Amino acid sequence: MTKTIAIANQKGGVGKTATTMNLGVALALENKKVLLIDADPQANLTHYLGIESKHEVDALTDGLDSIIERIPCSFKKLIRTKTIKTKNNETCTLDYIIANKYLAGTELATVHAVASEKIFTKFLKKIDITNYDYVLIDTRPSLGKLLLNVLVASDSVIIPVDSKNSAVEGLGEIVKTLTDIEEFYEKRVVVEGLLQTMVNNTNNAKEVTTTLKNTGLNTFKNTIPLLNEAETSYKQQKSVFEVKNSRLSTVYKGLALEILGGQCHE
Ligand SMILES: Nc1ncnc2c1ncn2[C@@H]1O[C@H](COP(=O)(O)OP(=O)(O)OP(=O)(O)O)[C@@H](O)[C@H]1O
Ligand SMILES: [Mg+2]
Repeated sequence: MTKTIAIANQKGGVGKTATTMNLGVALALENKKVLLIDADPQANLTHYLGIESKHEVDALTDGLDSIIERIPCSFKKLIRTKTIKTKNNETCTLDYIIANKYLAGTELATVHAVASEKIFTKFLKKIDITNYDYVLIDTRPSLGKLLLNVLVASDSVIIPVDSKNSAVEGLGEIVKTLTDIEEFYEKRVVVEGLLQTMVNNTNNAKEVTTTLKNTGLNTFKNTIPLLNEAETSYKQQKSVFEVKNSRLSTVYKGLALEILGGQCHE
């Protein structure tokens, strides 16, 4: 059974893209068939995956435009494959679909479409995700039509929350959106888990840990530490599993095992 997971938080810079990429690789290393989709016009996941240009064609944009405007599109062409070789000499492959900057225009165009929140759901049908174990979708930091489209199409959502005081502000908004989706679409999008990110040894970080536990929502045991290697890995366009002596790779593996229902690494 395919599980479609959105990585979402309307707050910017909380580690959505870092989580999509590295959790995706971690799941692929556990022999799961993984598809990553970049649904953010900033195209940061696309950059992380090694594609430089924000103008690159054969992107999610082309697929969504084709559905909105009813023009033909070779959907299979949008799926690319990447082989990853880790520093421990493990290899895995994963499939991915890129974003480009034109996705912002497509988001505006959805407004005029019939069933404007169902365009992405139709897109997933067109590309046929049934062969994948996991489809992970990186989303943009705003509660607009694109994020709504992704959430409506997803089974569950991972909500990364950073370790600053303001972190839990806005959590209510995304949870309300999930409740609205349940009411209007009669579809429950499960909170797979709140994921505390950028954790350091400060009182702020500890307060966030306590606050997340008190929400009553699923919270991952694994938390993501604040480490410079995240930035290095993004700049080098390599997952943390391809970086020497990476501490984040251990944590993302632990997170993958939690999601697979196995033991967390602690
Ligand atoms: N664990 C970490 N420790 C330190 N820096 C991190 C960590 N994870 C991500 N970063 C860095 O923090 C910045 C924001 O991370 P990321 O791009 O993953 O967040 P985002 O939620 O996707 O942002 P946006 O809302 O803009 O899409 C990036 O520069 C990234 O390299
Ligand atoms: Mg991002």
